[in-house]
Amino acid sequence: MSNVNSQPVLKLDGVRKTFSPGTVDEVVAIDGVNQEVKAGDFVTIIGSNGAGKSTLLNLIAGMFPPEKGGKIHINGQDVTNLKEYKHAAYTGRVWQDPSVGTAKILTIEENLSLAFSRGKRRKLIHAINRNRRSLFKEALKPLGLGLEDRLTCPVGTLSGGQRQALSLVMATISQPALLLLDEHIAALDPTTAKTVMKLTSEIVNREKITTLMVTHDMDIALEVGNRLIMMHKGKVILDLNRKAKSALTISDLISAFEKASGDKFADDKVLLKAD
Ligand SMILES: Nc1ncnc2c1ncn2[C@@H]1O[C@H](COP(=O)(O)OP(=O)(O)OP(=O)(O)O)[C@@H](O)[C@H]1O
Ligand SMILES: [Mg+2]
Repeated sequence: MSNVNSQPVLKLDGVRKTFSPGTVDEVVAIDGVNQEVKAGDFVTIIGSNGAGKSTLLNLIAGMFPPEKGGKIHINGQDVTNLKEYKHAAYTGRVWQDPSVGTAKILTIEENLSLAFSRGKRRKLIHAINRNRRSLFKEALKPLGLGLEDRLTCPVGTLSGGQRQALSLVMATISQPALLLLDEHIAALDPTTAKTVMKLTSEIVNREKITTLMVTHDMDIALEVGNRLIMMHKGKVILDLNRKAKSALTISDLISAFEKASGDKFADDKVLLKAD
């Protein structure tokens, strides 16, 4: 997708989302977010439980629209009210659960075909179908997992890590403007998580995809990417560039959070890790 350099890949203006408005269950999940993400940015997003991180990604992916008045632009296009299936041309996603991003009864190549066709015109799909296999092999090879030789295997036979690696390829094969990762390594064992994180950085750097990655791992949030955003109660409360974050330790980050939010940092997964 073409992109004028000065134009942000993602622009959020006055984005809000309230669940169950006007009821006793009302939750203001996103409370006025204004953000710009530049081409090639790799933004890590951290925050306490229920801060609105997943809701923000869901809004960007078009799962539901923001409240009236809010605007979402991707590469200068107003996508605020675009249906989710039409968003596929703009965004690729990987979720926490390996079973969400892939269909286990379908083969690797069937999964890739579905991902590849998403958001494309039928004519184009036919033209590319002839070379599909070699394209899929080329996309899988850099993972170094041998998946390129298992194109006809059902995805249900893959490990969690292999499925997340495949999900990454599926999310990026159509060269979306934005890659959205929501704790995509959180369900994996530590060694596999490390491998999938390395693959993620490799794919993002190679394809130069603008990326937003939610993580509970503060080490990773500090180490990976060129920008770190912290969320709390539906708002962005801290926004650090590469230089600012490179100077911080995890405890600095927690102090910065507590200062900016006036609250204790409450993230069960981070506390579990520190135990
Ligand atoms: N579909 C939904 N219906 C009702 N409430 C929701 C829905 N999705 C999220 N919420 C609520 O919105 C708030 C923000 O949730 P969200 O899942 O975005 O937080 P999060 O930052 O991703 O948290 P976590 O770190 O636990 O994943 C929470 O209070 C949550 O309960
Ligand atoms: Mg979440």
